[in-house]
Amino acid sequence: MRDMAPTYGVLHRALHWTTAILIVGLLPVGWYMVDLDFDDWKLTVYTLHESFGVIVFTLTGVRLVWRLLHPVEPEASLSPVERAMSRAAHLAMYTLMIAIPLTGWIGTSAFGFPVQWMFLFTIPSPVAKDDALGRLVLDAHGWLALGFAALVALHLAGVAYHAVFKKDRVLDRMLRGTS
Ligand code: HEM
Ligand code: HEM
Repeated sequence: MRDMAPTYGVLHRALHWTTAILIVGLLPVGWYMVDLDFDDWKLTVYTLHESFGVIVFTLTGVRLVWRLLHPVEPEASLSPVERAMSRAAHLAMYTLMIAIPLTGWIGTSAFGFPVQWMFLFTIPSPVAKDDALGRLVLDAHGWLALGFAALVALHLAGVAYHAVFKKDRVLDRMLRGTS
């Protein structure tokens, strides 16, 4: 078996915190922008939401490859049940960090609004214009985002449980990379 690092390295930690901050912004902005009247401001907010969402997608791709190449030991104080639960929650979060941007990209493209990344260039549409497909996929995007918000809340409850009650190194491993 390949050697495992005792804790998270600096790149993994940087990617964790960057994507966490972006996602904490993307969720409320997503809910805010859908109710706006159709005007230039709405288009601007959509473009920014989509552009930062593409950044989350890209960073998550890098992070997953890095994570697979550099496995990290589970924290020693975790019971087998805690270990299984945290693995399942992390896997679900990674899946949604890929699936949510993909549904956003396919959905907006199907509506005939390809992503204008940071107003700089257009990301090609993966599908032809199809309003029904666009509605279906963007509805899925919204539901997945809701599920993701619930998972993040669960993640934070888990981290708080370790930091406050168990007083183990779980949070330190992600903050300072200590083992
Ligand atoms: C992790 C990244 C992302 C998160 C957390 C996120 C979250 C959200 C949320 C919460 C909504 C509101 C859903 C609703 O109430 O209907 C939304 C809407 C939307 N998002 Fe994202 N999003 C992400 C990435 C993206 C990306 C990459 C794109 C496109 C490239 C995108 C395109 C859209 C569009 C077009 C809507 C409007 C949907 C509609 O009009 O019904 N999102 N997003
Ligand atoms: C949207 C926000 C967040 C997302 C999407 C997220 C996602 C993740 C993911 C996917 C992992 C698994 C890392 C791996 O082993 O590959 C993780 C680990 C971790 N996260 Fe977050 N996170 C978020 C916010 C936070 C916040 C605010 C905190 C601290 C208060 C935090 C603390 C931690 C800690 C301590 C770990 C390591 C857990 C362990 O060693 O088992 N996260 N996070």
